Amino acid sequence: MTLMPPRTPTLIQLLGLLVTLAAVGSFSVFTLRQVEELRRLGSDIVDRNRRDSLQLIRIQDDVAQLGLALRDMAEGAEPYPMEAYRPQFQRLREDLENALALEARLMPATRTEAQQRLLETVFARFWTVVDELWLLASEGKPEAARALIRTRIEAERATLATLISRLLIQNNEAEAAAVEEIQAIHAKVERNLYYLLAAVLAAILITGSLVIWHDRRMFAQVSHLSEQRKELAGQVIRVQEDLFRTLARELHDEFGQVLTAVGMMLLRVERRLPEGAPGREDLREVREIANQTLDRVRGMSQMLHPPVLDDYGLERSIEWYLGQFEKQTGVKVHYQKSGVAPWIGDAVAIHMYRILQESLNNVVRHAHVTEAWVRVSYAPEKMEMEIEDHGTGLPEKPQESGLGMIGMRERAELLGGRIEFRRRAGGGTVVHVEAPLGVKGGKG
Ligand SMILES: Nc1ncnc2c1ncn2[C@@H]1O[C@H](COP(=O)(O)OP(=O)(O)O)[C@@H](O)[C@H]1O
Ligand SMILES: [Mg+2]
Repeated sequence: MTLMPPRTPTLIQLLGLLVTLAAVGSFSVFTLRQVEELRRLGSDIVDRNRRDSLQLIRIQDDVAQLGLALRDMAEGAEPYPMEAYRPQFQRLREDLENALALEARLMPATRTEAQQRLLETVFARFWTVVDELWLLASEGKPEAARALIRTRIEAERATLATLISRLLIQNNEAEAAAVEEIQAIHAKVERNLYYLLAAVLAAILITGSLVIWHDRRMFAQVSHLSEQRKELAGQVIRVQEDLFRTLARELHDEFGQVLTAVGMMLLRVERRLPEGAPGREDLREVREIANQTLDRVRGMSQMLHPPVLDDYGLERSIEWYLGQFEKQTGVKVHYQKSGVAPWIGDAVAIHMYRILQESLNNVVRHAHVTEAWVRVSYAPEKMEMEIEDHGTGLPEKPQESGLGMIGMRERAELLGGRIEFRRRAGGGTVVHVEAPLGVKGGKG
């Protein structure tokens, strides 16, 4: 496993977001355009076409009525004079002009200019011949008038009827094409919606899996590093304890022996000299210095690693240490013990001892009190220890400098136990530590 921290997943997430945004954005633009197109097809083409067709049908109907009247006139079946048809023609002509004006406004885009012009021309021609008809009728030439109907007027009317029919068909075809186009647009939008869904789902899936994968890798690295750190801390503490123990032994055995021997030899020489002999007083002073140094060497040795810990175990060491502590600091310690101490392994003993030392040192250094409480309870499978003071209490925010508490945590962890630093309700601090005893506690 590499120790390089993996790159942040922000890039992956950003990419996923970009893909999603791009997909949604382009789909929105596309859909809006299609909706616009649908509106155009629906209202501009289909609706307009239908209204135009209505006018064309009205025109067709008028042209048909003209046809019927012209047929009657040509056959002369009715007993009225030809002039009698004139008001009907007038009415139809007005209606037709209205309808044509309306139709010209609704005219669909498919209509060519040539078609429109043809329509207007044929109508104009038709009315010109009809005017000729009335002229003949008013001149009292019914035969000539009938001949005009059969030859030219009917022909123009038939042309008109065909023209209108063709326009109607054209409108229908345009409408059918528009409807088809609308359906095609619906299909296109639907298809693109599926594409969008697929793209967004894929983006979510890919981004999600990458982020999960990244998290897992990160987690694995963090736990690996934490494992390494724990290992290292344990090693450091062990090396430190070994060093302290060796130093303590060296100080005690080597220097202690030498100083004791020096002291005894000095005493022997001193005794051989008669009382009041010159140099005897000097010898006594040197012996005094040697004894003081011996005491200090012993003190240092005990401080580094109390031999009582190796010789008599934790329980006695605690008692011994509390006595020393009271003497050295003037802080009164109320000691309370419950349960019977089982056999306690070296590792548990040294770590618990150091935790007690550090906690009481903290009381002296930070709590500003003259009393402390130490409670120890033993059970076959675990031991608990509590160090309490009624002083200033732990600061709200943890201090950056404090290595003591970190060391205590490391030791508790090495023991497979747990430690807790509490602010006491009535003011002050409580350190509570629990360590399992037995197989696990004997190691390390
Ligand atoms: N018994 C206590 N009473 C008040 N404050 C304490 C006590 N024990 C620890 N602290 C606070 O916690 C901090 C960290 O303690 P520690 O880790 O032992 O570091 P250090 O003793 O070197 O400052 C101390 O600086 C102190 O502010
Ligand atoms: Mg400290």
